[in-house]
Amino acid sequence: MSFPNQRPRRLRTTPAMRRMTAEHRLAPAELILPAFIREGLSEPNPIASMPGVVQHTTDSLKRAAAEAADLGLGGIMLFGIPSVRDAEGSASLDPDGVLNKAIRDVRSEVGDELVVMSDVCLDEFTDHGHCGVLDADGYVDNDATLDIYARMAVAQADAGAHMLGPSGMMDGQVAAIREALETAGHSNTAVVAYAAKYASAFYGPFREAVDSQLKGDRRTYQMDAANRREAIREVELDLAEGADIVMVKPAMSYLDILADVAAMSPVPVAAYQISGEYSMIEAAAANGWIDRQAAILESVLGIKRAGANMVLTYWAAELAGWLKESR
Ligand code: PBG
Repeated sequence: MSFPNQRPRRLRTTPAMRRMTAEHRLAPAELILPAFIREGLSEPNPIASMPGVVQHTTDSLKRAAAEAADLGLGGIMLFGIPSVRDAEGSASLDPDGVLNKAIRDVRSEVGDELVVMSDVCLDEFTDHGHCGVLDADGYVDNDATLDIYARMAVAQADAGAHMLGPSGMMDGQVAAIREALETAGHSNTAVVAYAAKYASAFYGPFREAVDSQLKGDRRTYQMDAANRREAIREVELDLAEGADIVMVKPAMSYLDILADVAAMSPVPVAAYQISGEYSMIEAAAANGWIDRQAAILESVLGIKRAGANMVLTYWAAELAGWLKESR
């Protein structure tokens, strides 16, 4: 050895040494639990492609939210699955629609103990499964969709959401929502912008989770996996439009994007470890091919190390439990 005294391994000699010198660690407060509620269910409904994740009933969702608050999670992100869908996704505007009602129920359960977040997007509510309304040619109509997002945002804020997550990748969605919220007197309702959201094959299991009606893909509005520079443009636009937090999604195949955004963002950065990322690890673990707990911890730590201040993950509650147990 030419530098015999240089031994990085010294800091790896004991668990205590490794713990003390760790550059990053996970905490429950930065984890956000995505949760699904389905209208008309009498029992929670397991999602086959996401072992351990269910479509909730009102009661089971309230329990999950209370547990999340007890565990000290940062937040919960709600997705609703209505029993009736139409071309405009009108159930999203109904104050008693599945998602708006769920927001109210969860707020009454957890108050301000947990940040209650909700998905502002039409894909769960439309009968064609797109994130916006369609024009005569079947193209997703950006500005007609913004009008609906603006009203949806106000309905969700009225229901008590602390933070809204526009996930449809329409141009101008953050500005449209921000303006509508201000006009409606909801100036304290925050927006976590899905700023750099890519068209991804890893959303597959989510489509089952929300009984998606989509045929085809979302490539005319979600970003192309080939593009890195474009993510900065999307983030800058969302910041200019008033985003309080910017998100990168998916996470694991986009850690370079996350690092780029973390390096330039003046607001906190979130990352969404999506359904397919969850299911891949669960499937490999179920086959005995990887150590489940170690793989989960490593995957989320990697997302944090790349620059995320907070992580949406379907393992949020389980992870928080592990973090409490370990020192
Ligand atoms: C759109 C939305 C999607 C996800 C979150 N919000 C689906 C999509 O863009 O196709 C995916 C989340 C996941 O895969 O876990 N409302």
